[in-house]
Amino acid sequence: MSAKKVAVVGATGLVGQQMLRTLESRSFPVHSIKLLASKRSEGKLLEFHGEQIPVEVLQEDSFEGIDLALFSAGGDTSKRFAPAAVRAGCVVIDNSSAWRMDPEVPLIVPEVNPDAAQAHHGIIANPNCSTIQLVVVLKPLHDAATIKRVVVATYQAVSGAGVQAVAELEAQSRDILEGRPPRCDIFPYPIAFNCIPQIPQSDAFDSSGYTTEELKMVNETKKIMGDDSIRLTATTVRVPVHTGHSEAVNVETETKLSADDARKILAQAPGVSVLDDPAKQIYPTAREAVGSGDTYVGRIREDMSHPSALDLWIVSDNLLKGAAYNAVQIAELL
Ligand SMILES: NC(=O)c1ccc[n+]([C@@H]2O[C@H](COP(=O)([O-])OP(=O)(O)OC[C@H]3O[C@@H](n4cnc5c(N)ncnc54)[C@H](OP(=O)(O)O)[C@@H]3O)[C@@H](O)[C@H]2O)c1
Repeated sequence: MSAKKVAVVGATGLVGQQMLRTLESRSFPVHSIKLLASKRSEGKLLEFHGEQIPVEVLQEDSFEGIDLALFSAGGDTSKRFAPAAVRAGCVVIDNSSAWRMDPEVPLIVPEVNPDAAQAHHGIIANPNCSTIQLVVVLKPLHDAATIKRVVVATYQAVSGAGVQAVAELEAQSRDILEGRPPRCDIFPYPIAFNCIPQIPQSDAFDSSGYTTEELKMVNETKKIMGDDSIRLTATTVRVPVHTGHSEAVNVETETKLSADDARKILAQAPGVSVLDDPAKQIYPTAREAVGSGDTYVGRIREDMSHPSALDLWIVSDNLLKGAAYNAVQIAELL
């Protein structure tokens, strides 16, 4: 691959920072890098391959001469600036939800539907973080035994809500431990020492009672897997974990899979690490997944309430496989 002129939009954010680290760690061929964020960050210095690079303010003309733009600055910014980047001849890989369900925009998880990326018209969408780690595990099970229905409950880390949310978790934890009332600016309830079944915290519930995160999981799974017949229901919950999303998943298949079958299939699956030895208390936790681009699965067992269903525990780093790592893998596909 020839070295690319890369722009990172939202470079100062949690995902943007991981974009830089992932480009470095995967030795992505970067000819030059442009770091873009809001006016608030103008001139701030960020490190890339040992060099201090100043952040520039994102503008419509920021993309002249750029080959690849990695966007992670929220849906409104993507809606407004991704078309300008495409007009400038750039390929955009977008982490926001702005373009994911657009039929003209491929929604890609490289372990699941890499070929779909080639049909892009300038924008490729990176799926929702909870969906990515789910489909990496569902795809090999679907290929082996045809999934009929999935029931998932998520345990999502606070870093999934951005840099200010992490600051709120830290401040509230200190306040509560030191006997002060916790202050809530980002979340509707204290997130420290608590769980909040509303993601994103700012969105109203759908008339059906689902949150937008839950509906993203339903719709994006079908689009990525290329199969509208998979039925899925989700309950998404924010938990006071810094980084690393966990999911309790029940998967009903057309053909019965034993727990051993599933372990063998998943052990061969790309991007999946099986950590599953109940006798030795081995199973994945969020802390261990942090820093890795893999998706971890454990607690694999046959559902005792159903003749053809499995229970699984799936964990991954939401800032890496859930965002930056998946985006850089997409760039590598191109
Ligand atoms: N966190 C995750 O696990 C995760 C996973 C998948 C997808 N995503 C998506 O990735 C995006 C960023 O998430 P994050 O967690 O990195 O958020 P964050 O830590 O809050 O960072 C937001 C970034 O966007 C920039 N930004 C905000 N408004 C802007 C504007 N008007 N013009 C230019 N830049 C602007 C910010 O720049 P300043 O520093 O200048 O404010 C900052 O660099 C969101 O769309 C999110 O949904 C996040």
